[in-house]
Amino acid sequence: MTNKYIYFVANWKMFGNLRTLNSLNKVISFVKKNKQRKFRLIYCPPATLIDPLKDKVKSTSIQIGAQNCHESENYGANTGQINSSMLKSVGAKYVILGHSENRQLGENDITINKKIRSSIKSGLNIIFCIGESLSQKRKKMTKKVLSRQIISGLKKIRNKDKLIIAYEPVWAIGSGLIPKEIEILEIVKFIKNKVKGAKVLYGGSVNTKNINVLKKINNVDGFLIGGASQNSNNFIDIIKKTFN
Ligand code: PGA
Repeated sequence: MTNKYIYFVANWKMFGNLRTLNSLNKVISFVKKNKQRKFRLIYCPPATLIDPLKDKVKSTSIQIGAQNCHESENYGANTGQINSSMLKSVGAKYVILGHSENRQLGENDITINKKIRSSIKSGLNIIFCIGESLSQKRKKMTKKVLSRQIISGLKKIRNKDKLIIAYEPVWAIGSGLIPKEIEILEIVKFIKNKVKGAKVLYGGSVNTKNINVLKKINNVDGFLIGGASQNSNNFIDIIKKTFN
């Protein structure tokens, strides 16, 4: 994994307030001290923290992403929603789309496709999440499910330059469980064959212990990290171990 840039994407989910940002001082000094390391660090806090976080990391290589957006890049009568151009205007460079926690709330492949297209138009980079449920895995439907998510989610998207795919098995998220190395290797290969040139991250229960195993899977371009990214010491430890 050492010859290419490795992505570490922190998905803070519904966590954090202005005071929490102080805990990032450690990460900022770690990043400044390790400029020669080939990693890209992207923080995706709740939308309320994008602007203050952007100010906090402005002298570093850390980039900011959002966790979701509305499907239209235009203003509209959509109470409680935020669109891709609004996220861009406050400093987001990335947006996580298709996360299983949002799919579980009713987001479908068609909506995700609209969100991806509007976010590309707004100039955001996309972290597109795909993954199978436990029952789909048991029925050996993983590749079929991923194919459907990829084909529908990326419909009419020709330029894949702004696209990162995150393979996140639904059953691995927040559970402490991860697939076998060989399974991740095979699925990442499968995804890269389907979407030529795409970077592919692994996500789901990445932590300070299993990173020693995960880092050896050589076609993975990085990690989407939820729970473990909320603690700066753990997050730094994961990055350090990846390179050791
Ligand atoms: P987790 O979450 O690392 O807490 O499993 C990952 C994610 O939901 O992106």
